[in-house]
Amino acid sequence: MASAPRFAMASPVGHSVSEFSSDVVVGLRHPGQKELPSKYLYDAVGSALFDAICVLPEYGLNRAGQRMLERYSGEITDRVPGPVVVAELGSGSGQQTRWLLEALARRQRVNYYPIDISGSALFRCQQELGQIDLVSIVGFERAYLDGLQEVAARRRSGERLFVLFLGSTIGNFDRPAGDQFLREVRSILRAGDALLLATDIEKPISKLVLAYDDPAGVTAAFNKNLLARINRELGGDFDLAQFEHVVRYDETERRIEMHLRSKAWQRVTIREAGFRFYLREGETIWTESSHKYDSQGVIQMGERAGYQCAGQWHDSEWPLAQNLFFAV
Ligand code: AVI
Repeated sequence: MASAPRFAMASPVGHSVSEFSSDVVVGLRHPGQKELPSKYLYDAVGSALFDAICVLPEYGLNRAGQRMLERYSGEITDRVPGPVVVAELGSGSGQQTRWLLEALARRQRVNYYPIDISGSALFRCQQELGQIDLVSIVGFERAYLDGLQEVAARRRSGERLFVLFLGSTIGNFDRPAGDQFLREVRSILRAGDALLLATDIEKPISKLVLAYDDPAGVTAAFNKNLLARINRELGGDFDLAQFEHVVRYDETERRIEMHLRSKAWQRVTIREAGFRFYLREGETIWTESSHKYDSQGVIQMGERAGYQCAGQWHDSEWPLAQNLFFAV
């Protein structure tokens, strides 16, 4: 007998071409340092390249997350008494979430709501997690906070919301924006709801730089794909051969920065945006920041945003922390 489908999609909203176009123009007009929002790195090509980054020997972050959840999911979920509904901000490949869902499904039926602006990411998540017994999935193709609001509105009385923000994606926000984001998440939650937040911990600079500038050039391709995406979707004429992938560690801000450096003076036109601009030789477009943390600082960050830390787990091979918070 055919079993009932355990995966559905809330009607998609996504972001429009015009939003992409105006964000690109605002970033490239930014006085002093041109920039592009890192969220646009993840179209179908960028997401596939990011999956490839996650298996690079130099980039240990996702493997550490997976190792830790394989090992500690039982302990973590024991600290979050049921019944719970699970919302994940950024569905990722689903490989880490599997361990948590399986641990929860040992004690209850689980409604799992992955939230991602990328429909292709949600599709991959369905493929990875769609077959776990007692787990139903409804994907939300939304910005994180919009999706979380919808999930919160669906929960039944007595159900605790358990929010997952894995992979140290918080690190891609500037620190004040990260604080603000956690506060906004908190404002959607009720006291007693839980948040599992992964944070990449500081490590030797040489190791970090190699992780974001791998010798096989996968991260370089991931970075340059942002320009290729603008060419594809907005009629840009970026010549990718005229850019090089550059990675810096800012010791004051404690973050990796990814840039694309122009090899020559050049003029670029983005037809759909009706926008033309110039780059000097050596000038860069800043495409991503990846902030690193210390364990105590993460606890304080959670406290500033209205949470209390209920546990912190560490990986010894690739320093990463899984932090369990409760909304107070
Ligand atoms: C998704 N995010 C946490 C990754 C990071 O490490 O900041 C994105 C990434 N960029 C280059 N490599 C990986």
